[in-house]
Amino acid sequence: MAQTPSQPLVWLITGCSSGFGIGLALLALQNGHHVIATSRTPSRTPHLVSQVESLGGKWHTLDVTSPEAVLKGKVDEVMSVWGRIDVLVNNAGYALLGAFECFSDAECRAQMETNFFGPLTLTRILVPYFRSRRSGTIVQISSTTGIEALASRSLYSASKFALEGFSEALYNEMAPFSVRVFLIEPGAFNSSFADKLSTHQASMPEDYKGTSIEEVIRTVEEMKGGNMRNDVEKGVRAIWDVVMREGLAEGMKEEFLRLPLGVDAAERWEVVGELRKRTWEGTRHIWESCELDAQKKQGGC
Ligand SMILES: NC(=O)c1ccc[n+]([C@@H]2O[C@H](COP(=O)([O-])OP(=O)(O)OC[C@H]3O[C@@H](n4cnc5c(N)ncnc54)[C@H](OP(=O)(O)O)[C@@H]3O)[C@@H](O)[C@H]2O)c1
Ligand SMILES: *[C@@H]1O[C@H](CO)[C@@H](O)[C@H](O)[C@H]1NC(C)=O
Repeated sequence: MAQTPSQPLVWLITGCSSGFGIGLALLALQNGHHVIATSRTPSRTPHLVSQVESLGGKWHTLDVTSPEAVLKGKVDEVMSVWGRIDVLVNNAGYALLGAFECFSDAECRAQMETNFFGPLTLTRILVPYFRSRRSGTIVQISSTTGIEALASRSLYSASKFALEGFSEALYNEMAPFSVRVFLIEPGAFNSSFADKLSTHQASMPEDYKGTSIEEVIRTVEEMKGGNMRNDVEKGVRAIWDVVMREGLAEGMKEEFLRLPLGVDAAERWEVVGELRKRTWEGTRHIWESCELDAQKKQGGC
């Protein structure tokens, strides 16, 4: 399991046409690892494809919303490039924002297909291989939206909460097999993410004027053009360090499932943590009321 430069890992990364995906692909290549970078339409980013290939990487077409059989075929294909895959990075994703009632069925399903079912299926295809090999790393790019659902993010949060749910269970299931699972939860990073966010086709009822839905969408709109708090290159470096157990992660006593990224992400953790604590305290008289009488007698002194 020692991951030295003499044992380059093979990385399979989705959504490499920009942001975290390409950043991680280039960093891995620069460190002498093997990379299979993927995107839906490689012909749209020829400069990135040649950059990756000039560093010894490969670029494959991969749409994470493809049917399972197609994804399976793709995994078999990329497995044969270097004879193995060591790290799967489920990174491709986008944010659908707006009022919950305004989303069409197609918009809801498309969000879940890309952000949830895509990673789910790729992970499910690779788990038997990682398990039987007793090694492998699964990196799920989630979001602070994966632990807190703000107004306007009903579907984006649904997709990332779902990603977090199965990945947390998988983390527990894979622990005996030395297969590592990570949930990366970035705050706002300067990728093309804000430029690419989508809203519903339907127009929002007047009632929502001035509500937090508008507010949150406006905040994200203001981030367009890379006007965000965090540097995606630093985020990529942090993910690298954690996966490779070096740099910032060197000597960490515990390997955590979740990695909040950015001070803004950490602030949301604090808010969520405090609300949980307040709920726990504020509902004590209710949850305490449910115990069997026999249990109560046992507990009392
Ligand atoms: N940047 C942030 O502030 C931030 C915050 C929290 C979480 N994240 C998460 O980070 C991940 C990467 O995003 P990023 O910040 O690097 O943004 P990005 O620059 O927009 O890159 C997103 C990548 O995902 C792919 N993608 C986008 N929509 C897709 C779709 N409908 N189907 C399939 N692939 C699609 C794109 O590839 P194609 O060329 O194939 O479209 C692109 O390479 C996402 O999962 C996102 O949710 C980002
Ligand atoms: C993000 O910001 C850093 C620091 O200003 C910059 O080096 C980098 O090119 C930016 N990345 C993107 C994708 O805009």
